[in-house]
Amino acid sequence: MRTYLVTGGAGFIGSNYIHYMFRKYGDEIKIINVDALTYAGNLENLKDIEDRDNYVFVKADITDKAAIAAIFAENDIDRVVHFAAESHVDRSIKNPEVFVQTNVLGTAVMLNCAKAAWELPDGSFKEGKKFLHVSTDEVYGSLENEGEYFYETTPYDPHSPYSASKASSDMLVKAYMDTYKFPANITNCSNNYGPYQFPEKLIPLIINNALQGRNLPVYGDGKNVRDWLYVEDHAKAIDMVQEQGRLFETYNIGGHNEKQNIEIIEIIIETLQEQLSEDDPRKALVSKDLITYVADRKGHDRRYAIAPDKIKAEIGWEPETMFKEGIKKTIKWYFEHEDWMKNVTSGDYQNYYAEMYQ
Ligand code: NAD
Ligand code: DAU
Repeated sequence: MRTYLVTGGAGFIGSNYIHYMFRKYGDEIKIINVDALTYAGNLENLKDIEDRDNYVFVKADITDKAAIAAIFAENDIDRVVHFAAESHVDRSIKNPEVFVQTNVLGTAVMLNCAKAAWELPDGSFKEGKKFLHVSTDEVYGSLENEGEYFYETTPYDPHSPYSASKASSDMLVKAYMDTYKFPANITNCSNNYGPYQFPEKLIPLIINNALQGRNLPVYGDGKNVRDWLYVEDHAKAIDMVQEQGRLFETYNIGGHNEKQNIEIIEIIIETLQEQLSEDDPRKALVSKDLITYVADRKGHDRRYAIAPDKIKAEIGWEPETMFKEGIKKTIKWYFEHEDWMKNVTSGDYQNYYAEMYQ
């Protein structure tokens, strides 16, 4: 039985990945999920699997060397899948320091503890051990022209404190691979959407606001482009890279699904109108009139677009969920999980929203 140490498994992508892995492997694997449960971490995301015999949750901060070393000492970890990070660009603009702390220092701790646990006296590593570092397309900077894409060879050019901290963490992983031949891979993925995404990110924020008849804030001219990927496709790609990818390689993961922010918002409004029944009181609230242009994000990257050619050619992964279908599934999930949304938007979220948008 393979044992996985997943960091940040109570967050959006991490919890989707854990669900995916149990659906795929059932009792053939064990997962240890280590998460500090920051504002973005939510154990409700994992309610349906928390009683499994082959699942363990450990509340710990990845910058806490003793806590992470203890997990490696007490368990024979075969795979690390490292999601834990501060992940929101707007928060990084307001408070960069915690991004350096978690994303850079936390990654250094994870690498050091895995290296200490897996290294043999001759400097090689125990057979079959692998570390996968989950990163972002934002490390490559911003594209200006149609037809340009981010490749694995595109030079790093991060702009926000978030992307600079993720780029630094990627560089640390590369340094471990180059210096020690540490058995790792890096994946750089485009924007994810789907169930369990915290509503400070564009898609769940727009769904939640629209259903309440609240303004739909669009930064700048609304024409910034992101390349959206359904989160389950990302989970599948991570597993495929870890099992079939060449060690020491980076793989870009993307949806080939570029859309302007304003198009996304219009699609969400249209889909909500289609899905709400005539007698649902929320139907009258959902309207394009809610679209409100607000001040632009500082240093706002114009366009991201991933070329997932290498992962397709080497591993056979490609995005499976068309945006039209993925957004319907996502909206349906939010309809069916109103309590989840209520719980995550009570308390601190209200303060965040007031400070950010008013
Ligand atoms: P998220 O913010 O939803 O979740 C992050 C998780 O990490 C939370 O559960 C949080 O509690 C935990 N965490 C934060 N600081 C921690 C610490 N110091 N110690 C332990 N746990 C801590 O993020 P997400 O959107 O799920 O992103 C996961 C990873 O994927 C990140 O590394 C992010 O950079 C990367 N990524 C995200 C996207 C996207 O579109 N969301 C795209 C590409 C890559
Ligand atoms: O590209 C991958 C990245 O995608 C990940 O590395 C990040 O962790 C993830 O948060 C995401 O970053 P973005 O900044 O692209 O995502 P966000 O949902 O915050 O914003 C998407 C776009 O929508 C961006 O151009 C800003 C815009 N936006 C966002 C919000 C929250 C708005 O116009 N209005 C809003 O209220």
